[in-house]
Amino acid sequence: MRLLVMGARGMLGTDILQDWKSDEVIPADSTEADIRDLEQVRSLVSKVRPDWIVLTAAYTDVDGSEKNPDLAFAVNGKGTENVARAAAEFGSRLFYVSTDYVFDGTSTRPYETSDPVHPLNVYGASKAAGEKAVQSFAHESCIGRTSWLFGAAGSSFPEKILRASESRPELTVVSDQVGSPTFTRDLASAILQLIRGEARGLVHITNTGICSWFEFAKEILHQAGRNSISVRPVTTAEFPRPARRPAYSVLSPASLTRCGITVRHWKEAVPIYLQDLRCMGKLS
Ligand SMILES: NC(=O)c1ccc[n+]([C@@H]2O[C@H](COP(=O)([O-])OP(=O)(O)OC[C@H]3O[C@@H](n4cnc5c(N)ncnc54)[C@H](OP(=O)(O)O)[C@@H]3O)[C@@H](O)[C@H]2O)c1
Repeated sequence: MRLLVMGARGMLGTDILQDWKSDEVIPADSTEADIRDLEQVRSLVSKVRPDWIVLTAAYTDVDGSEKNPDLAFAVNGKGTENVARAAAEFGSRLFYVSTDYVFDGTSTRPYETSDPVHPLNVYGASKAAGEKAVQSFAHESCIGRTSWLFGAAGSSFPEKILRASESRPELTVVSDQVGSPTFTRDLASAILQLIRGEARGLVHITNTGICSWFEFAKEILHQAGRNSISVRPVTTAEFPRPARRPAYSVLSPASLTRCGITVRHWKEAVPIYLQDLRCMGKLS
């Protein structure tokens, strides 16, 4: 199988490139094709002629999207549409990585793929626009929604917590937003299994387990042996950010289970994540 990974230099893209060894995996980043430019995307896809395009490229700055909605929609909405159009034109299937932030967080049970989207912030709205574009233009497609990514190749929440713990004896972390942390290497593995199974439609992919950002931070520090750092829970209201976030964005595993795939508990992935950080010299 020939797979074109667009967004190959990002956190998830890097792990996909590292872990998918058995197929022909072709990386592309914004220097090969800026997804906002349909002609650049068409030229890349026509040259590579992949069986599948895996689109991880996105404008992922959630707060930045509030200040620059045009950029968020240009990349995540129109850019995704360009990739979907090129996939359809050149006979490639498309796997689009989307987000829990398409939901508003008012649910009292995990979100199913059949639940309506209602984003609270510009980033979520731009990714929802991307989903619509995929559904409209690339019929041979799969949309994988995921949440709270962490991986050694990016600068994600746990790395920020570890870095902050080096200079501050007490950290404050919000405790009233709940979701499922997802290790990018586990996500990469699940995406490959879905592609091999020729999955279509919407799938929710996260590690098992639910926690708040506060609980996530505590576990990271505990597993890194930094139990002396005190973590104080705070509310979202005490810690205002430009973008509103859903209070509850847990994604149900039912759609993934139907594909015969299970993903381990996020706490079991933390030791591997920490080891990856050590290998990269990011953690002593
Ligand atoms: N991070 C999370 O917590 C999270 C949660 C849920 C879903 N997701 C989704 O998961 C996917 C991967 O996230 P990530 O955190 O791995 O992303 P990331 O590290 O921010 O990487 C995104 C990549 O997108 C590329 N990109 C941005 N604008 C582009 C453009 N105009 N044309 C081509 N490439 C462009 C960037 O490439 P260059 O470096 O070449 O500019 C960057 O390498 C995204 O679709 C995101 O929406 C992320």
